[in-house]
Amino acid sequence: MPTSKISAAMQKRLALAARQAMKHAYAPFSNFKVGAAILTARGHIFVGCNVENSSYGMTNCAERTAIFSAVAKDGPDLEILAVAVANAAGVPCSPCGACRQVIFEFGPRAIILYQGVKGDKQSPITDLLPEGFRLK
Ligand code: THU
Repeated sequence: MPTSKISAAMQKRLALAARQAMKHAYAPFSNFKVGAAILTARGHIFVGCNVENSSYGMTNCAERTAIFSAVAKDGPDLEILAVAVANAAGVPCSPCGACRQVIFEFGPRAIILYQGVKGDKQSPITDLLPEGFRLK
């Protein structure tokens, strides 16, 4: 499935929005603050941050926070075109496996913008999650 081109200006906007959201992270356990911004096919941007919990497994990643906010605001016919991820430590950070599956559900053509091992990187979600699972 072909991915759509995200303009340089939009990439910058998403990166900035992710960085802003990162400041709201609730990460007292890992101290690893993450922000995410998604661009939808309607042209809307939604942001999220990680929200941890004393019961560690309840933690919600920044990417899923952004996606769930988008569904809550715009409805279930969400199409994600791009996801930008930022972290306060300035280290490589691509979406975790669970988030890849959630991104794929709503954005099989999405481009992911993140810090890779060699600096800023872009990957189609299908490169990060080949053979993602779908019921329909
Ligand atoms: N985390 C995210 O929010 N997004 C990622 O892409 C990687 C990991 C969070 C989960 C947890 O709160 C903390 O980072 C450390 O794993």
